Amino acid sequence: MVPGLNKLRVAIGSSAAIGLRALAKLPYGPQLIRAAASRPGIERWLRALLCVYQPFPDIDTATKYIRRFIPAGHEHSDVVSQLKQFADVTRESDYPVLFYLSGYAPGLSTVFDLGGGIGNLFYPYDRELRLPATLRWMVHDLPDKEEIVLQFAKSRNEQRVGFSRRMEDASGVDLFIVSGALHYFEDELAVILGRLAELPRLVVVNRTPFSQADPIVTTQVGDGYVHACKLHSLAGTIAGMEAIGYRFVAKWPVHERASRVPLRPDLNDTYWGLFFVLDADRRQLEASR
Ligand SMILES: C[S@@+](CC[C@H](N)C(=O)[O-])C[C@H]1O[C@@H](n2cnc3c(N)ncnc32)[C@H](O)[C@@H]1O
Repeated sequence: MVPGLNKLRVAIGSSAAIGLRALAKLPYGPQLIRAAASRPGIERWLRALLCVYQPFPDIDTATKYIRRFIPAGHEHSDVVSQLKQFADVTRESDYPVLFYLSGYAPGLSTVFDLGGGIGNLFYPYDRELRLPATLRWMVHDLPDKEEIVLQFAKSRNEQRVGFSRRMEDASGVDLFIVSGALHYFEDELAVILGRLAELPRLVVVNRTPFSQADPIVTTQVGDGYVHACKLHSLAGTIAGMEAIGYRFVAKWPVHERASRVPLRPDLNDTYWGLFFVLDADRRQLEASR
């Protein structure tokens, strides 16, 4: 499709999404949207209108579709420079993590930071928690981030931060953290962790949009970039973690961000954070394997 026409379709989609989100705030608005979306003919028309703002069956399908309209995603320079700025701030939603981690911090020796961006989380956490000098903080992200992570750590004279290309490196780490990134993965958290030879001891999820019902794949559209993302079920994620041996310790709302799926106003919600600890019994079992 010609670029001008693509831009027009995205602009129309944006207006339709704004309209539906405004309608959802009116009395009976959500019911009206659900009733309209339950009629296949109208639903098809609304999806076509919404373009990159429509729901999709899975992340792969969504990514293939949205890239026809907006080529840039996580590698967009604005996204990367914002992550660099985040290294110097402790965001409101970091404080629950700091609270729950503080007792464990002195004993941490390995951290796996899934979707860790440029390694930006390490810096505020280290400022607040004084992480051990021998700590190994492995950032796992898309390949384009490797050089940026390493250069950024070098610019901060930081030896503890490295880049991991392999999810397997998360096996048996003291802390597995996935902040602002779980929704970019098709699989549930328990499935991702369940593939590891040894489960991590502590698991933190932060700044994550979830679904209060069934999972749904949607998009995050920024200025010049778009990401496909999956709102996993919040209850299902917690139940999945408990099923593989974790104790659910806490959840907190992240009011800095909100998810608004235009065709599913019933799923409007804040983002969330979660904290899990591997059960002692389970840990013993893992160690004896
Ligand atoms: C919003 S940033 C989060 C950065 C950091 N964790 C934080 O809380 O500030 C999301 C990160 O997820 C990464 N990401 C997206 N899909 C990924 C994938 N399939 N594998 C690894 N990283 C991915 C992106 O490249 C991006 O750096």
